[in-house]
Order: sequence, then C-alpha cells, then structure tokens
Amino acid sequence: MGARAVITIDGPAGAGKSTVARLLARSLGYLYLDSGALYRAVAWQASRLGLDLGDPRALSSFLAEFKPEVTSDKEGFHLWVNGQEISKELRTPQVSRAASRVAVLPRVRRWVKERLRHLARAGGVVAEGRDQGTVVFPEAEYKFFLDAALPTRAARRRQDWQGADSPPLMENIMAEVAARDRQDETRAEAPLAIPQGAIFIDTTDLSIEEVVGQCLARIRAS
Ligand code: C5P
Repeated sequence: MGARAVITIDGPAGAGKSTVARLLARSLGYLYLDSGALYRAVAWQASRLGLDLGDPRALSSFLAEFKPEVTSDKEGFHLWVNGQEISKELRTPQVSRAASRVAVLPRVRRWVKERLRHLARAGGVVAEGRDQGTVVFPEAEYKFFLDAALPTRAARRRQDWQGADSPPLMENIMAEVAARDRQDETRAEAPLAIPQGAIFIDTTDLSIEEVVGQCLARIRAS
C-alpha cells in the first residue's frame, strides 16, 4: 500500500458506507470525509435561510459565502456553522430529501467537490459518497463500491429511528430509500455508478467488521 493513499467508498443509502469508511479511516490513521454531510449542510443552511432549493442562482450566491468548518476525528466527520456543531441536525429525513434535491445542481456539486479535494490535498483520506471514485477522486489508489438488497438497506435506515416515539413504517422507509436511489442514479450530473476499477462488495449478509476486513485485506494485498 502506498503512503497516504486516497480511498473511495461509494454506494447507495444504507449500504454501510459511512460506518465502513469511518472504521477504515480509523484503522489506517486516515481522515474520514463524508461527502453526503456536505450536501446535507448546504440543504440545511439554505432551507434555514428560506432559499428556494430548486433555484440554482439563489444557491449559487449563497454558496459563494457559505464556509462551514470541517473537522474529522475518530468519532466521525463534523460540520460547524458560526461556531456551532450542526452534524446531528443534518440527520433528519427532511434534510435527506432536501440534500438529494440540491445534489442535482452542478454548482452545488462543484462546491462540494472543491471542498473535498482541498481536504484531501495531502492524501491519507477515506472519502465516502456517491461519486467519489467516479468524479471527485477518479485517480484514487483504492476504490470500493458497497451495495445491499433494498430491504436490508431500509432496515439499517430504520435503526436511525431507534428510540423515536413513532418510527415510520418499514414500507415507507423502503419507498423513501428507493426514491432516493432513483434520484441519485438518474440525475444528469455525477449519477451514482460503480467507478471503473472499483471492488464491488455486497454487504447484505456481512457484518460491518467483515466488510472492513475485506477492504483492509484488498488494500494490504496490493
Ligand atoms: O450519504 P448521505 O445519505 O448523507 O447523502 C445525502 C444525499 O446527498 C444523497 O441521497 C445524495 O442525493 C447526495 N449525495 C450525492 N453525492 C455524494 C454524497 C451524497 O449526490 N457524493
């Protein structure tokens, strides 16, 4: 394995990317980059400002000034706006939907890509998302694509609701995940796709530790 490599992990919602990327980064002493959190932050702050999420011009002027602070440690990827951590606020279904909406806009994608490349300028990162191996880091040394059966992915998403008073019905979560998949796979700009040269891992019947183990084995074998 080369020193301070760039590793990408792509795949649809619920495939296990975030946990795998975070654990992989931790075991290699690398920086974990969560590209989805940046799309969520754009959607969250633009909504708070009352902007029309479908208006590229309004979002473009907003992005020229939007400079959230990013920190990444062994707990994960953190975003801060005006000195306040917003990472938890980004994890609601409303923000998920809004993030998918703004993610179709080329200006938004460019903003996220520039931030990620800046953070990865010295290498030593595990970048997770939908287009990390295809568009953001096409030259990455190691690329993985994780996927799992839809019911499994929906069940994993449902765990995010653990402890909530009225968690949504499984069938509604499944429909929501399927709708997000469709939007991510069919958009014109950087659609979700398996990057060339990526190692495909079906995580349906694997534990997180097994997936991380497979990734590490592939990395160390080369
Ligand atoms: O991964 P996460 O669920 O946090 O991503 C939120 C949304 O942001 C995704 O549904 C997708 O629409 C968008 N996204 C993207 N490209 C990425 C990461 C996320 O389009 N690299």
